[in-house]
Amino acid sequence: MSSSSQISALRQLANIINEAVDSIEATYAKAGAPLPSLDAPTFNPTDPAEALLQDPVVDSAALNIMAAASQLSATVCSPVASALNASQAFHISSCLRVASELNVVELLREAGPEGLHAKDIAAPSKTNAALLARILRLLATHNIFREVKPNVFANNRISAVLDKGKPSSVLFEKRAERLVGTSGVTALVEFFSEDIFKSAAVLGDTLLDPKEGELPYNRAFNTDQALYYWMQRPENALRLQRFGLGMAGTAGTEPVDAIFTGFDWSALPDKGVVVDVGGGIGNTALIIAQKNPKLRVVVQDLEHQVAEAKTHWEQNFPEHVKNQMVEFQSLDFFNPQPVKNASVFMLRYIMHNWDDARAAKILRRLREVAEPTTQLVVIEKILSVASTIQSADETAIPGAARPSAPAPLLPNWGVGKAEFYFHDMAVHTMLGGGERTLGGYVDVFAQGGWKLVKVCHCKGSQLSHIVGVPA
Ligand SMILES: C[S@@+](CC[C@H](N)C(=O)[O-])C[C@H]1O[C@@H](n2cnc3c(N)ncnc32)[C@H](O)[C@@H]1O
Repeated sequence: MSSSSQISALRQLANIINEAVDSIEATYAKAGAPLPSLDAPTFNPTDPAEALLQDPVVDSAALNIMAAASQLSATVCSPVASALNASQAFHISSCLRVASELNVVELLREAGPEGLHAKDIAAPSKTNAALLARILRLLATHNIFREVKPNVFANNRISAVLDKGKPSSVLFEKRAERLVGTSGVTALVEFFSEDIFKSAAVLGDTLLDPKEGELPYNRAFNTDQALYYWMQRPENALRLQRFGLGMAGTAGTEPVDAIFTGFDWSALPDKGVVVDVGGGIGNTALIIAQKNPKLRVVVQDLEHQVAEAKTHWEQNFPEHVKNQMVEFQSLDFFNPQPVKNASVFMLRYIMHNWDDARAAKILRRLREVAEPTTQLVVIEKILSVASTIQSADETAIPGAARPSAPAPLLPNWGVGKAEFYFHDMAVHTMLGGGERTLGGYVDVFAQGGWKLVKVCHCKGSQLSHIVGVPA
């Protein structure tokens, strides 16, 4: 690329940012609300100004800003500095974990906007004040916390997200309960910045010196047990509690009705059977059946989970239970499938937990009993590649095409969508699974005896419905 076209690429990126700022300002002006300040010491997601960030115009402008700002600095910064900074980004994770475990956010909430000296932040946990100041300064440098004057720190709108909402004295006194009753975000931050971080640290070792069946997590924690079993051990009780709270916290992040903006559940025949394979408490099937009560549901999962599913349905949709329109089956999905008249086999957040061989085996069990009219509906995130050249599947499969970012942005919006790619690595590191591209789903469907025929992207959600028919 010539230097003049590079300059024009810079201008284009700057223009994308300017246009996005204009539309955010216009939306806030129309609503008569101020854009929340980064320096605000609290975060309240139900505040109308904060909620306006979910507005589709603001949301898409923010995505363009994230992608363009990062690409702009990557273009103009020293490549050496960029590479070295990227190789040390792990310090942000480790420092964030310290701040959460030492209840810094709660101490700063109690201190108010004037902030608190590092000596006083370190006192309740008897930690090294000078080191803690350096940890918080690293975070403040990345816009998490604010250094109001030398060694004095206050919360900002990002650090405030980690507020566990309890007095710091209670958190220090009852350490084992500190995450109970919180939003789940803090639990998730600690799970990512400790369990996944430690596992990710040995990703390279497991590739350079592979051992049969060993995941990064196994090597990091020196165990040959699978994650879910290892977490059940008595010494991991708090880890398990933190994991459960973190996962429960994410359950409500998808809009409830997104499930209706993908696959057309109402087109299924009366008394058609929807099998929620690995359905957990069967909540997705419950939402579908509440709107389509003509549908029969079978919730399948491992034994302990099925009992919870039954309770959940009795509490939330007792009519369907009473009318015998829902059944709960304890079933390992690697074993033969007992339901032989399914209209739909639905698998939500199942495929991404398993490698291709095991994911295909799950699908084969369903294919063995499928009727010619049975449909497979896999509900997952579909990863986009970072290339401007899209895979043929994206254009050939009905419904699969998605908008790509305006040039010269990376077509997948780059770091604006970082969460997808972090999640992909997290699932590999801990479980050996992974998020798949559409091509990945085409392949694993084929290995399981299914043909991927269409995709429905859910509106307002990161999930897609990936639909297959018997091959
Ligand atoms: C990530 S959760 C998804 C639950 C549910 N589909 C949802 O979307 O909320 C994965 C589920 O797979 C279930 N599971 C794991 N291994 C299984 C197996 N071998 N057979 C059946 N279910 C299994 C777990 O118990 C858990 O409920």
